[in-house]
Amino acid sequence: MTNPLIRYPGGKHRLATMIENLLGQSNGIYYEPCVGAGGAFFGRKVRPRSAVLGDRNPRVIGLHTAVRDQPAAVVEALALLPSAGITPTLYEQLRAEHNDGEHAGPTFAARMIWLSRAGFNGLHRENKAGELNVGWGQRPRLTLPSAERVHAVSAALAGVELVCVDFVALLSSARPGDLYYLDPPYLGGFTAYTAGQFGREEHDTLAQFARLAARKGARVLVSGYAGGETAAAYAGSRVVWRGAVGHSISADGSRREQRGEAMYLWAPERRSGVTRG
Ligand SMILES: C[S@@+](CC[C@H](N)C(=O)[O-])C[C@H]1O[C@@H](n2cnc3c(N)ncnc32)[C@H](O)[C@@H]1O
Repeated sequence: MTNPLIRYPGGKHRLATMIENLLGQSNGIYYEPCVGAGGAFFGRKVRPRSAVLGDRNPRVIGLHTAVRDQPAAVVEALALLPSAGITPTLYEQLRAEHNDGEHAGPTFAARMIWLSRAGFNGLHRENKAGELNVGWGQRPRLTLPSAERVHAVSAALAGVELVCVDFVALLSSARPGDLYYLDPPYLGGFTAYTAGQFGREEHDTLAQFARLAARKGARVLVSGYAGGETAAAYAGSRVVWRGAVGHSISADGSRREQRGEAMYLWAPERRSGVTRG
C-alpha cells in the first residue's frame, strides 16, 4: 500500500480498502479503466498478480509510465524544480510547459507532480483542449515527494500494464474471474478531468458493458452518486455501499459539496447476495 504522487479531485485513496474488500480477490486480471491518480490501486493491501490500469487522459498515463519505468530520473527531475520562492509567474511558466510539451518522460512526470502540489487545492482540471487550467495555489513553498515515495510508487507499478484508452476497450476484454473497479467522472458532478464528455450516454454505455462483463464472469464495481440519474443509469446493478464524500468542484474551492455516494456492483449470477439498491 502506498500513496498516489498527485492529488486528484474525487481521489479514492481513503476508500481503497473498502473497494478492495467489496471486489474481493481473484486470480484474474485487475482492471482499473479510469485510474486517475491511482488512489484505489495504490491503496490496495494485496497487489494483484496481473493488473491493467487505463485512463483516457494521456498525461495521467504518461505520469504513471515514467514513474514505473524511470523512477530515478523522475527523482532527479523533481530535484531540479523549486520548492521555495514560487511566484505566480513561475507557476504559469511551468503550467505552459506542461500544456505545450510532451506527455511522457521523467521531466514531464516531475513537472506534473510539481503542478499538482503548486496548483490550487490539488485540483486537476482541464479545458476542452485538454490543457490544465488550474490557478496557482498561492503557496510560495511546497513539499515535494521524497525519493523513497517515488520508488515505492514505481515498485507498486512494476509489471502493471498502463494504457491510454476509453473505458469501453478495457471492459470489453473481460474474462471469468477478472475484477474491475471504475471511478468515472460522476454524473452531474465534476467532469473536467480530461477533454471529452462523460454524461448520461457514457454512463449508460458503462452500465451496458459492465453487465456484459459480469455475464462473462467478471465482477465490476463502479463509484457514483447515490440515487437519482446515476441509479437510473446503473439499473440492474446492486448497491453494495453508501456514504458521503465531499468534492471540491470549482477552481476557487468555493463550491464544496457533500453528496451521497454509492458503489454499484455487477457480478456473475452465482456471486449475488448483497443489498439490492
Ligand atoms: C474520478 S477520476 C478517478 C480518480 C481515481 N479513482 C483516483 O483515486 O485518483 C476519473 C478519471 O476518469 C478518466 N476518464 C474520463 N473519461 C474517461 C473515459 N471515457 N475512459 C477512461 N477514463 C476516463 C479521467 O481522466 C479521470 O482520470
